[in-house]
Amino acid sequence: MSGSFGIGLVGLGRHGSRYVRHLLEGIPGCRLAAVSRRDVGAGRAFAERHGLLFVPEWRELVTCKEVEAVVVVTPPALNREICLAAVRAGKPLLIEKPLALTVADAQEMVRAAREAGIMLMTAQTLRFTPVLARLRDRLADVGPLEYLVLTMRTERPPHRWLGDPGQAGGGVLLEIGIHLLDLIRFLTGAEAVEAVADLARRHTDRVEDLALARFRLSTGVSCFVEVSRVSGGRVCRVEAIGRAGQLIADVDRSLLTRIEGRAVTATEAVPDRPTVVTVLEAFAKSLSTGAPVPVSGEDGLRAVAMAEACYRAAREGRSVPVAISSEPA
Ligand SMILES: NC(=O)c1ccc[n+]([C@@H]2O[C@H](COP(=O)([O-])OP(=O)(O)OC[C@H]3O[C@@H](n4cnc5c(N)ncnc54)[C@H](OP(=O)(O)O)[C@@H]3O)[C@@H](O)[C@H]2O)c1
Repeated sequence: MSGSFGIGLVGLGRHGSRYVRHLLEGIPGCRLAAVSRRDVGAGRAFAERHGLLFVPEWRELVTCKEVEAVVVVTPPALNREICLAAVRAGKPLLIEKPLALTVADAQEMVRAAREAGIMLMTAQTLRFTPVLARLRDRLADVGPLEYLVLTMRTERPPHRWLGDPGQAGGGVLLEIGIHLLDLIRFLTGAEAVEAVADLARRHTDRVEDLALARFRLSTGVSCFVEVSRVSGGRVCRVEAIGRAGQLIADVDRSLLTRIEGRAVTATEAVPDRPTVVTVLEAFAKSLSTGAPVPVSGEDGLRAVAMAEACYRAAREGRSVPVAISSEPA
């Protein structure tokens, strides 16, 4: 392989365009080599403008010799098939969240990559948000953790496919709530063992656009998750409630606040940075050094398992275990 890894990018939509922009601006250790999307005219024109290879069919893109690693930013229903094909072609992968629509699919992907010795990273991008990394570093300041409250509220869905369970797998919980589920593991270092959830369809027909969930962790700590796409404003907030005080990360404003008693004892404006840049840098570093990726396929699988437990809990109206089948993933 060359010193600079040729990236094949599948998906040039809303989020794929961010990957394009950052790759074209330059990520050390990798370069955009080939792209794939369904719209052949737009894809070809884009590729010509930037001197890239355009491969309309992703099955061909993953086997191209110019492509040394694959980045997947498509509707997640495609993730499993693209992953398995890339693994067969011996190409490392970075796949946008959610890793898969179901635990079974995610397990198959993780297993295939592991057996073939192929690197698989899940783009759980919120982990790379500077203010959340700072919250994690400062958690001990508020004493033993009592519980976490994680909130994400944003506008109505930007795509029709997000309302189609066949394309999206679920609603707002699997689409954006998955960030918060992954954060629970990232911030606490503990696994969720039990989930209870209440899901609502306020402006949608087939998938939830409002989700409330509670997880019990292996440590006994509880985590409360609220996620919705019903309101005009944007809020993404993580609150860590410790015995000695509270830390509140306001993600959209990149502010970390510490509260003790009635007082705000510290407010820190944390310099923000686009998470896709950090994700790509981490992926490129692992490609060139062989070091483990910071967010593995297994991490992506565990977040999907937490979401799947919520769907089952809501259907059955009771708390359920967060389970990954006993077969090794
Ligand atoms: N981490 C984050 O913060 C974040 C934020 C947003 C989205 N995402 C994730 O990114 C993914 C894409 O979301 P998006 O908002 O970018 O969706 P989008 O705007 O609908 O873009 C999807 C892209 O996939 C392409 N595509 C669809 N089917 C294809 C196929 N069979 N072969 C090749 N390309 C195909 C589409 O091509 P055409 O345009 O030509 O039809 C389009 O370029 C989702 O998994 C989403 O969850 C993550």
